[in-house]
Amino acid sequence: MMTMRRTKTLIIMVLTSSFCLVILYSMLNLQVTHNRREVAEIPAVTTKNLVLATSTIGIKDNKSTEHPTESKSGPPSSTAAVQQVTVSESFIKDIPKSSAFWNRKMYSLFGQQPIPINLTGNELVNGSQCHPESIESLQMNIQDLRSYPELYQDFLQGMDCHSPQILIDQPNKCAPVGSKGQVFLLFAVKSTPRHFERRQVIRDTWGREGVYQGELIVRTVFLLGRTSVDDPNLDKLITFEAKEYGDLLVWDFQDSFYNLTLKEHVFFKWTLYQCPQVSFIFKGDDDVFANTPAILSHLQSLEPDRASKLYAGQIISDASPLRDIKSKYYVPQSFYEGPYPTYAAGGGFLFSGSLLKPLYIISHYIPFFPIDDVYTGMCFKALGISAEKHEGFQTFDIREQDRENACVHKHLLLVHQRNPRQSKRLWRNMHSPLLTC
Ligand SMILES: *[C@@H]1O[C@H](CO)[C@@H](O)[C@H](O)[C@H]1NC(C)=O
Ligand SMILES: *[C@@H]1O[C@H](CO)[C@@H](O)[C@H](O)[C@H]1NC(C)=O
Ligand SMILES: *[C@@H]1O[C@H](CO)[C@@H](O)[C@H](O)[C@H]1NC(C)=O
Ligand SMILES: *[C@@H]1O[C@H](CO)[C@@H](O)[C@H](O)[C@H]1NC(C)=O
Repeated sequence: MMTMRRTKTLIIMVLTSSFCLVILYSMLNLQVTHNRREVAEIPAVTTKNLVLATSTIGIKDNKSTEHPTESKSGPPSSTAAVQQVTVSESFIKDIPKSSAFWNRKMYSLFGQQPIPINLTGNELVNGSQCHPESIESLQMNIQDLRSYPELYQDFLQGMDCHSPQILIDQPNKCAPVGSKGQVFLLFAVKSTPRHFERRQVIRDTWGREGVYQGELIVRTVFLLGRTSVDDPNLDKLITFEAKEYGDLLVWDFQDSFYNLTLKEHVFFKWTLYQCPQVSFIFKGDDDVFANTPAILSHLQSLEPDRASKLYAGQIISDASPLRDIKSKYYVPQSFYEGPYPTYAAGGGFLFSGSLLKPLYIISHYIPFFPIDDVYTGMCFKALGISAEKHEGFQTFDIREQDRENACVHKHLLLVHQRNPRQSKRLWRNMHSPLLTC
């Protein structure tokens, strides 16, 4: 009897002390990880939980592009590999651990186990059902949610819905052309269903598809969502346009300003599946004027090292959220706190095709943000890629007196904004044999 009780006490003592030790150890451990994050001098990310790994990678690769006919049926097969993406210390350092909804969401995503991202065919192509978050459950996390503009509440409800179905696809967009090889530059133009005229002028001018300088393949896609129920139904016209020109990509989500980040995410995914070998991507608006020959020359002039990390455009630095509720770019205090990363203005920027996969992966960890170019900047910064300034990008336009001047435009890569008529005239004048600058 006596020995049994003693044994019991002993067992309890041992259990209690090991429990205490475990607690103590994990507290110490937390302290260490925490300190590492706070210390600015540590260069590489040493914290293990910031190395995000994905599981299966099965996108169209080198092999499948050698036999383009094979890849059409069924998901492309490829060897499994582990892709690791490491989040830069400077990105983490800039995002305060505040109570703002977005900040908390990001830290919780980073704290989790790596998100399995299945990059096998079906999952890249097919959409998946997603139930929007209810206002009630959002309100538990954002006390003043009711004071947000209605569209903002819509954005928050759909913030975790990342896989809308593609309704109109262009599976052959990047099919190799004879012996010319892979697409060199892909123009990805954010458009909206009713902008027929803008798309047409882009096809007729700077977005014309073809082989430039005898070897550089240029392709164009327009990125679209759906019209809202309050707008005229343009589905038939869009279907016709897509058949006629083969350059529309349409997804099943409402085309709106706050859904542009979603548009970006699905574009990464689409390109990863359909154009994984593309060298460079131009992403921009449908009301800009781009100087394709100058863009191509610039891209060709890049050293391989710079080319593979390219993220260039008109750079916006030291920006932070606007707290004026009337602004198009309003961001509530209880939604996001912290500065914006240095980013390239969304009117038009260039980046390297080799960054698609890491971008797509990282965009699972960075919660959607209502301003798409800020979001893009966050993704690049998280990958440790800095935005590169290029004087040729003039998203805030140039001097009034130069706006019709073809010679001035010869040296630019992009201007915002030009209407279809101005674009057409500029393009014609710039390519006129009579032009002497
Ligand atoms: C294709 O594969 C070859 C050899 O397997 C490799 O050297 C090359 O870099 C790959 N090309 C691309 C664009 O990944
Ligand atoms: C990825 O998807 C494929 C096909 O849908 C499936 O066979 C495979 O098990 C999935 N892999 C993971 C890690 O979920
Ligand atoms: C994806 O779509 C294809 C064709 O529409 C279908 O056969 C397949 O079952 C779908 N896969 C998933 C995972 O939904
Ligand atoms: C984004 O698209 C989804 C899906 O169509 C829609 O439910 C949501 O209201 C849209 N969000 C905004 C802010 O327009």
